[in-house]
Amino acid sequence: MIYIGADHAGYNLKEELKKHLKELGYDFEDLGNKESEPQDDYPDFALKVAQKATETREKGIVICGTGIGSCIVANKVRGARAAAVWDEFTAIQSREHNDANILCLGGRVLDAGTAKKIVRLWLETKFSGEERHLRRIRKIKEIEK
Ligand code: RB5
Repeated sequence: MIYIGADHAGYNLKEELKKHLKELGYDFEDLGNKESEPQDDYPDFALKVAQKATETREKGIVICGTGIGSCIVANKVRGARAAAVWDEFTAIQSREHNDANILCLGGRVLDAGTAKKIVRLWLETKFSGEERHLRRIRKIKEIEK
């Protein structure tokens, strides 16, 4: 299951990505927004996605204007390793090295085609499991305590 959410600046891209997830055969749940409402706030959606994804040990995708605000919020949730990703390289690295479980994207910085490529790669790429990356993630978990 993929949990997806967006504020008004990410709404259109969220709708595009939902179609793409369907094409790729992924189950997803949209945690809002349900329409593009200029007064909505990215912390509300980023928090919902990060909480659901960490509680269920699944993945989440959050979209705001830049991906940055959502990433800041999502990383406040224990167990979340949210990554603001902007291209194919950072999509792969955030999975292989950081074992990121929340993908944060910018609806005002990415075209739909690039965002779709990022999402597919991010979902398909596995954590490398290499000792040096495990050690670094253990350190993140220590900091979290
Ligand atoms: C909303 O205007 C914008 O600030 C928000 O979507 C996001 O980019 C924040 O990081």
